[in-house]
Amino acid sequence: MKKVILKTLFFLFFISCISQSSVIVAKKTDSLKNITPVSKEWMTAKVTHVIFYPQTTVVSADKKANELNVGQKAKKVSIRTLYDDKQIAFLLEWSDNSKSVQKQNETDSYSDGFAVEFADPKIDPLKLPYIGMGSEGRQVEIFFQKAHKNSFESEVSISEGYATMLPIKEKKPFAQMKMEYTNGTWKATLIRPIKDLYTCLDTENIPVAFAIWDGEKLQRDGLKLLSSWVVVDIYGSKNTTLSKVIDAKSSGDAAVGKTLVRQNCAVCHRYEDIEDAPLYMAPDLSNIGGYATAAYLTESIVDPSAVIVAGYNKNAHKNLQWFTIDKNDTKISVMPSFSHLSNKEILDIVAFLQTLKAEVEK
Ligand code: HEC
Repeated sequence: MKKVILKTLFFLFFISCISQSSVIVAKKTDSLKNITPVSKEWMTAKVTHVIFYPQTTVVSADKKANELNVGQKAKKVSIRTLYDDKQIAFLLEWSDNSKSVQKQNETDSYSDGFAVEFADPKIDPLKLPYIGMGSEGRQVEIFFQKAHKNSFESEVSISEGYATMLPIKEKKPFAQMKMEYTNGTWKATLIRPIKDLYTCLDTENIPVAFAIWDGEKLQRDGLKLLSSWVVVDIYGSKNTTLSKVIDAKSSGDAAVGKTLVRQNCAVCHRYEDIEDAPLYMAPDLSNIGGYATAAYLTESIVDPSAVIVAGYNKNAHKNLQWFTIDKNDTKISVMPSFSHLSNKEILDIVAFLQTLKAEVEK
């Protein structure tokens, strides 16, 4: 099985994008001490536009929220990065028509928020953690902030997948997050140490992913906009394996892939307007091309248990659980491996899955 994965990826490497869309170049600055979301210093850093896609993995149990999020488009978020000797800072800017702040004692109001997720830069780029909060054995460090009445609440946690979040509570906050809303735009910053107890970013290329929530659309938890993994380049080295893996496009034929997916996958997965599969049977693949890498898609097809998407709906029927647990306490995906398909067929399927993503909002 391993042979198939490596061979397929070998092909994928051949047609990596030249555009390097996934690289955010960090700018060195003297000190990040007094940096705020509106500091002039940010103007010196290069802007990268990152597309955030609606995470459609599972349908929310909240009908009203679903209605508000039907046909949701992807959003362009501007991102800048600065660093000094000890810390690294991110500025995210995105448009939002309304400032939504969760009010006390109101359970049906939700707030705008943002999160920045880091994977260990030493990880094999072919085995990046699952984009939605990590996966077993592939942990992520998540910095998360939401707007609350008169205040903002930040949280840092280590996660190996949904429901495994381990909040980090240190005596002194070791990171700062801020959000400021003016004229229909959120500006949000995270300042964190380059090295903390959990991840060491003192290296050339850092795998980072981002998310934002829109309270007005009742977004919370998995209902959000999510970026794919992107590379933050701090020491000016381009074209690394990490960015090649993130930018790789399958050389397969998406039209052939479409037919193969209809034949092999639509019994369990919903995507686009194909809704044959029962709800909650498997992740909805409607935006998978927006937030998954070709390497991840390939791995999902040939070795489904390598990463188990843990975010299945807990209210779903037992028969709709996404994994079983064997005698050795190992989680086994209910998705069968498709490693019997030829490399060409796998490439075609991956090429089609990469087309599955929402249009970008103008
Ligand atoms: C028997 C039902 C079933 C079939 C058939 C099936 N899958 Fe899956 N698939 C699942 C389940 C359940 C999961 C979630 C558990 C996991 O991560 O393995 C999943 C996960 C995935 C994921 C990860 C989704 C995410 O959100 O990260 C991808 C990609 C995927 N499948 C693609 C495919 C493709 C392509 C095919 C056809 C070649 C296919 N699946 C066939 C049930 C199925």
